[in-house]
Amino acid sequence: MQVRERIRLLDEQTVSQIAAGEVIERPVSVVKELVENSLDAGAHALRVELQDGGRDCITVHDDGGGIPADQLALALQRHGTSKLNSASELFSIKTLGFRGEGLASIAAAAGSIELISRPADQDFGARIQAVAGVVGPISRIAASPGTTVRAHQLFDATPVRRQFLKSERAEFARVSAFLAQLALGWPNVSFILRHEGREVWNLPAVQHAADRIEMVFGKGSRGSLLPVSYVIDRGTRITGFTAKPGNDRPNRQGQILFVNGRLIRNTQLNAAWSAGYGSMLMGGRYPYGALMLELPPGEVDVNVHPTKLEVRFLNAGGVFEAVRRALQQTLRASSPVRDMSGPLLRLDTTAAAGGTIPTTLPELAAPDVSLLENRLPEIDAIPQKARALGQIDHTYILVADSDMLLIVDQHAAHERIAYEALLAADKSESPTEPLLFPIMVELSADQASTLQARWEYLTEAGIEIEFFGDSAYRIVALPSVFGRRHIDLPGLLDDLAQTDSAFAPEEQRRYILATVACHSVVRAHDPLSLQEQIGLYEGLRQCQAPHTCPHGRPTMIQLDSSHLAKAFNRT
Ligand SMILES: Nc1ncnc2c1ncn2[C@@H]1O[C@H](COP(=O)(O)OP(=O)(O)OP(=O)(O)O)[C@@H](O)[C@H]1O
Ligand SMILES: [Mg+2]
Repeated sequence: MQVRERIRLLDEQTVSQIAAGEVIERPVSVVKELVENSLDAGAHALRVELQDGGRDCITVHDDGGGIPADQLALALQRHGTSKLNSASELFSIKTLGFRGEGLASIAAAAGSIELISRPADQDFGARIQAVAGVVGPISRIAASPGTTVRAHQLFDATPVRRQFLKSERAEFARVSAFLAQLALGWPNVSFILRHEGREVWNLPAVQHAADRIEMVFGKGSRGSLLPVSYVIDRGTRITGFTAKPGNDRPNRQGQILFVNGRLIRNTQLNAAWSAGYGSMLMGGRYPYGALMLELPPGEVDVNVHPTKLEVRFLNAGGVFEAVRRALQQTLRASSPVRDMSGPLLRLDTTAAAGGTIPTTLPELAAPDVSLLENRLPEIDAIPQKARALGQIDHTYILVADSDMLLIVDQHAAHERIAYEALLAADKSESPTEPLLFPIMVELSADQASTLQARWEYLTEAGIEIEFFGDSAYRIVALPSVFGRRHIDLPGLLDDLAQTDSAFAPEEQRRYILATVACHSVVRAHDPLSLQEQIGLYEGLRQCQAPHTCPHGRPTMIQLDSSHLAKAFNRT
């Protein structure tokens, strides 16, 4: 074990280099400072107790290394720390704290603060208390090894501050959410949270963060998250969990980020997280999960934010790219082709008898494999030789291979094909095909104003529209990828009206392309000829991301012979 450094006061020069600012804003800030101290002290068990949402009393108890009696008073002093010796060490911080301000800031914000601590090699503990900033004497006290810090009457002396606190429940909820998130990054530390004398939750120490994931993301969330493990070298890796495509959220709050055990915020890393999903994600939607970045301490500057919630990376571009790749690799490795066992095996064979499955099945030539290999390096689940068997409910296409049955959602599949074709056409600048017979549409006032606002993007997507008087418009050209299919312009405009025009232009464009794709392709309940069915499937397998539609929903599920064997009790 590391020998404990003594607490000392930082020198002026070091102090002047520390990011200054408000440290304690509300009860959760107190909890954060105290819990970080406990983790720095090597605690394995933490207990946090609140009264009145933390406004009356906050106690944090740990079983860490403790503070020797002769250093208790120094711990309370501003710039008293055992974690930093000189300014040069500021660039290789390995602990969560380093400024010696946590306890002093709490002492200044609270009516009183009490410290009881006993290092494991001492038989007795020692206690110190500061009331209204006045530090009292040190007394001997029986205590278990570890440290207990208790802060009373938060912001009593500053009524304005206290006024800004929300209700007891709201403050408590912040603390609970913060601790549950933090606990994800420290799986082998146990956490107990109590409020008003009652235990609210209790997380025993576990080996893996996975065992705590449901605490943060809700019951059943484990099944919708994929494990991330991306190792760059011995000191650099990214682990954690990310939502399977289609399980996204409307904001970034579900993206929990740790850098060397520190819970941080970082919008660039949020963006890298989304970038890893590419077109599997709609603009304005965000994957959720927890990512733990481990980097050499010298690569991260933690001294940039007064509450240490933000960090700066020496090589920000490299970290961004690593996160993007970690996610991309995770998604590629986890074939989102749904692997359905159990319930799905109750496939209703009467649908086949209903006549949609023909008796003679056309054989289809295998596509150019070398081309496929170039475009779809990560996919080997898709059979090389495929036959369309027919539709179920005019909504799903059945495709067979020698040892696999694929069920393709025809709308989702066509959306993906149209979306990628639009993206490609957009780049090659030949997106449109004039219509021999322009399509007339009537638009409501709302739809017309959405059209005005997004006209430019629609044109860019290959949809050319002319005003025809009153509420009438004519579609005169459509992206060539749509063939002769109709486009539901009013439906498209209704959907676009829901979107946030504050999206970045690139997101806006992607969203519009995805929406255009959605409103101009085959729909559920559209009858398709066998030729069209296999055409769709072949189109899908040419896509860059064939497994999900542009909204992130799956395009197909698969049953292989092992599932069938299981279902028929052949194993
Ligand atoms: N729970 C604890 N167990 C052991 N030592 C502690 C504990 N809490 C505080 N200390 C000691 O008291 C010192 C001061 O704590 P304080 O939180 O004020 O500063 P810090 O953790 O060093 O830096 P920061 O201000 O960045 O948190 C610490 O450096 C540490 O030596
Ligand atoms: Mg601290």
